[in-house]
Amino acid sequence: MAGDGIWVFFLTVCVVAFHGALAELKFTVPVGRFFTYELTRETFQNDFEPLSKLYAGRLYDDPMMFKCNLQRFPDLPEWLRFTQRHPYDNGFLYGTPTSPGKSVIEIYAVNKRSYETTRQILVINVSFPEKTMPYQAEFFVKLREIEKVLPSPVQDEIKQDLQKLWDTEALEIVNVTNALDRGGRVPLPLAGHFEGVYVKVGSEQYFSECLLTVLAPGHRKQCTAGAKVKVPGGCNFCSIPSNCITWCKTELFDLTQQEPSPPAPTAGSGILEAGEDFDPPESPPSRDFFPDYLVTVIVPLVIAVVLCLLLAYVMFCRREGVEKRNMRTNQIQLHHHHTIHGDADELRDMAGNRGVPPPLSTLPMFNSRSGEGAPPLQSDSPTIPLILAQHDPYSDTLPRK
Ligand SMILES: *[C@@H]1O[C@H](CO)[C@@H](O)[C@H](O)[C@H]1NC(C)=O
Repeated sequence: MAGDGIWVFFLTVCVVAFHGALAELKFTVPVGRFFTYELTRETFQNDFEPLSKLYAGRLYDDPMMFKCNLQRFPDLPEWLRFTQRHPYDNGFLYGTPTSPGKSVIEIYAVNKRSYETTRQILVINVSFPEKTMPYQAEFFVKLREIEKVLPSPVQDEIKQDLQKLWDTEALEIVNVTNALDRGGRVPLPLAGHFEGVYVKVGSEQYFSECLLTVLAPGHRKQCTAGAKVKVPGGCNFCSIPSNCITWCKTELFDLTQQEPSPPAPTAGSGILEAGEDFDPPESPPSRDFFPDYLVTVIVPLVIAVVLCLLLAYVMFCRREGVEKRNMRTNQIQLHHHHTIHGDADELRDMAGNRGVPPPLSTLPMFNSRSGEGAPPLQSDSPTIPLILAQHDPYSDTLPRK
């Protein structure tokens, strides 16, 4: 039984060379047994062209992304999941098959430096289980992340601890799940905070004494009260601190006591008999949109045109002219206005005909002896008279006509 320790997938590797680089890997996995396949970057690295001759002989470490899907389908089969934390980390395909059959998985690796791609084919044959595992238990490993648990050495470490707890060698890992997929929260990006991983194991052998303490009535109560419940003394087989389980999240499943699955649903009416033709329902009557068009387009347009015409009439046809104003004005008032205008014009006319130079005082400031204009003074200053020429004693020497 000891040789059964590791999941023996009858690994039949037949490397069929298609276009030189295309390899086909075959695995056989029984239903209900956990399957892991590590996409190691080194193997894909060999398929990529070296960067150039310049770097020949150096070790390459290109960032890589993987895209996995079921052949001729866009996604992976329901039971298979893929994870890769970082382009510089290996990727993992993992999951637990639920029904027998054959899945052909295509793996495309994209080199993030050169954007070259390479392909690998994985053929997973899911066989019938050779033995059943009616007793299963799920444990929560708090200080782990899924990528850290999937490498087989870590899986073995965890399994060894659980074998001691279960007190049997006949133990198989049934499922490993990221706690984030089960409603867990993304941890703070600090040391000592992890996403957490659920590990489910199964066995033919009934639960050990240690495991059965989980079913004790006091256990639930203690856990819901929020107390830090430790693994009971003598049952703590945790050898590596990061692999220790959270005792309160341990759950036992006894599949022998399961209720029979509910009967398959019966087909009701609305399902066609074989060979019958589908008669589609009538399409609804076509709708007349003309009234809607009238209301939403034509009516506002007509109102806008009417308002435009009204405005045009007011602006052009009802304009009051000068004649109309004169007609309305009192005749005497109009005459008065005209005479004022006439007199002012006459005075201006006479002033223009005098031919006498205007008085100096009306000119801008100047020096009366030299006839030069004075530099502009700051007339704001109270000590300087505004007009100097008035105080000039020689002002009477100016030529006169
Ligand atoms: C394994 O765990 C995943 C995630 O919780 C679940 O969807 C899947 O059904 C499980 N598989 C089995 C075989 O229990």
